[in-house]
Amino acid sequence: MNITPEFTEAQAAVAAGAAIANSVAVRPAPVEAHVTVRGLSKAFAGSPLYSDFNLDLPRGKIVSIFGPNGCGKSTLMNMIAGLTKPDAGEILFDGKSLKDTRIGYVFQNYRDALFPWLTSWENIAYPLRRGGMKPDAVKARVDELAALFEIRFDLKRYPYELSGGQMQTVCIMRALATKPEVMFLDEPFSALDFEMTLFIREKLQQAQAATGVTMVIVSHDLEDAVFLADQILLLTRRPTRIAEIVPFTLPRPRTPESTVDPEFIRVKGHTLEVFRREMNA
Ligand SMILES: Nc1ncnc2c1ncn2[C@@H]1O[C@H](COP(=O)(O)OP(=O)(O)O)[C@@H](O)[C@H]1O
Ligand SMILES: [Mg+2]
Repeated sequence: MNITPEFTEAQAAVAAGAAIANSVAVRPAPVEAHVTVRGLSKAFAGSPLYSDFNLDLPRGKIVSIFGPNGCGKSTLMNMIAGLTKPDAGEILFDGKSLKDTRIGYVFQNYRDALFPWLTSWENIAYPLRRGGMKPDAVKARVDELAALFEIRFDLKRYPYELSGGQMQTVCIMRALATKPEVMFLDEPFSALDFEMTLFIREKLQQAQAATGVTMVIVSHDLEDAVFLADQILLLTRRPTRIAEIVPFTLPRPRTPESTVDPEFIRVKGHTLEVFRREMNA
């Protein structure tokens, strides 16, 4: 992947919670859609990826983005999160622009996502401090997150002293610190072992239930894409369109046993079928 300095700077800014709102009065929500994407277009090197693309993300739900390698899953999420500039189109959060919206972002590569010169605790506290929160409130918020995530390792440790799963946990805590309205996660399970995948799945569900945050998760793994989702957004090969939006209504909390539930198996099977059809289209 080519990371331009510009992109890296934007990444750092988002990780740091740069999009913290200048507090805006919450409007009543007449529609269920939280995020609306209208007329989105994006081309790379003259080759169109998205053209007049429209999407609604429902409030307080978890949407997984699933599709063939290179179809633009990350690009779509990054355009919504403001890391990649669309060529055209409008993206609104409750009718507000991104700069008036609190978002959280968990990067694909957790090894590069944390500030190596800060302890885990300071990494989590960073966006809060940057937002001007008082030390007592920062401590209370980090303590609250540590309790939610049942942290058993010492948060005074530096990122290089942590396991991959612990690093990813810190990344997710940092993303949740500012109580985002929308949280973006790019392939959050791709580098985790099975045990950590189960743990992070459980914690993401708990965090979502506790906060009502709207979540968008990119995944290239069918089981991961289905497991947490209220909706699976299935994308086609490029030029990318929506192949299908598959609802998944299995009650929460979903547990490891959910993966052998007939409804899980049915939705996974259907998603695979659409994916195969698109691959052969
Ligand atoms: N900064 C960029 N410059 C040129 N091409 C890019 C850039 N970012 C992504 N692309 C291309 O856009 C397509 C979609 O990329 P991406 O969104 O990363 O796909 P996915 O996450 O679905 O695997 C790929 O063909 C990729 O090579
Ligand atoms: Mg990607």
